[in-house]
Amino acid sequence: MYSSRIPGFYKLSMEERLEKVAELVGLTEEEKRILRSFGHVDPKTLDVMIENVVGAMPYPLGIAVNFRVNGRDVLIPMVIEESSVVAAASNAARMMRDGEGIISIATDPVMIGQIQVLDVPDPWRARVDIYRHREGILRVANQQSKTLTKLGGGAKDLDVRIIGSRVGTMLVVHLYVDVRDAMGANAVNTMCEAVAPIIEEITGGKVLLRILSNLADRRLVRVRGRVRKEVLGGEEVVDRIVAASAFAEADPYRAATHNKGILNGVIAVALATGQDHRAIEAGAHSYAARTGVYTSLSRWEKDANGDLVGTLEMPMPVGIVGGAVKVHPIARIALKIMGVSTAKELAEIMGAVGLAQNLAAIRALATEGIQRGHMKLHARNLAVMAGAEGELIDLVAEKMVREGNVRYSRAVEILEELRRNM
Ligand code: MEV
Repeated sequence: MYSSRIPGFYKLSMEERLEKVAELVGLTEEEKRILRSFGHVDPKTLDVMIENVVGAMPYPLGIAVNFRVNGRDVLIPMVIEESSVVAAASNAARMMRDGEGIISIATDPVMIGQIQVLDVPDPWRARVDIYRHREGILRVANQQSKTLTKLGGGAKDLDVRIIGSRVGTMLVVHLYVDVRDAMGANAVNTMCEAVAPIIEEITGGKVLLRILSNLADRRLVRVRGRVRKEVLGGEEVVDRIVAASAFAEADPYRAATHNKGILNGVIAVALATGQDHRAIEAGAHSYAARTGVYTSLSRWEKDANGDLVGTLEMPMPVGIVGGAVKVHPIARIALKIMGVSTAKELAEIMGAVGLAQNLAAIRALATEGIQRGHMKLHARNLAVMAGAEGELIDLVAEKMVREGNVRYSRAVEILEELRRNM
């Protein structure tokens, strides 16, 4: 057994840290070489992103095709460990290409900061006093970020809430900050900290937390896509999808999985573009539960023509300046692939990917089930791993699926058999 207590670990160089870990846990030269494989990304870039770096973890970056969003064709970079997601997104995007394709509209990029105030002698009076001092509070907040205000962003408004809690009544100030092209957590947190002393003075209370809220319900993306019934195989399939959607709307157990499917797409783009994907996930799930009952972020309905129409609404706190997006070269390339030049555009595309991902899943679930498609892709991947090339890939994969025995060892066997008989 080794001790995880390693004083000064953070002070070592990346190489020294790796050697230390290797020595403690017995990593081989080959394992160290794999951890050290940074591709063409400068190791120094990754070393400064987080602490105690010893290596990199490359994930595949795939491109989803067929997307048309707000009338523009766009290639979608996706980073994800789950097979079938990229293929499913591409497939669903093809179904929603008609006309302008998927329509997606993001609100202004307004994030919320929270300032928690305890021990306020007269909360209802203090609440009004804060509103009376609104201009001054916003002015102080805006002094923190000249760049943001120059770009038309900054603290725009505030709200005051009074919350009953297990430790008594607390007053909570919400600061609404237009963060422009940033994700905005830093700007918002700085502003909350800056205005806290004034809030204390006005309320006579004691400020405790000053932090962004991830329930970003002022920074939403609203998406709509339509699929002709013929594309789906008729009105009966449309009805089945509508019933599947109604299930997610009505039941939190199903809604959680339905929304996970949406996030499969959204988060894959988030990873490719270096976003804080936990913030997006927190926003999505808390928004889904905003009424007090967790429900689906999207709904699928039948229009007057019998076609399928899907709508999705969710928070989309993403940025194209600052954070990993700024320093990670692959995140920059991903943005270039999408031709995105504002955070709003990125949010709109990500919303569209979420809706497409949802369509792919719900269509499969409401018809053949998802295992068949999954299995086919998985079988192909195993065939490739076993060394199959060209037409042998499909031959090996199809045989495994037919047999219901999709395993690497079986792929190797079938490949050997086929080669022997060639
Ligand atoms: C699997 O990663 C995602 C799905 O479960 C989503 C859904 O059920 O809607 C297929």
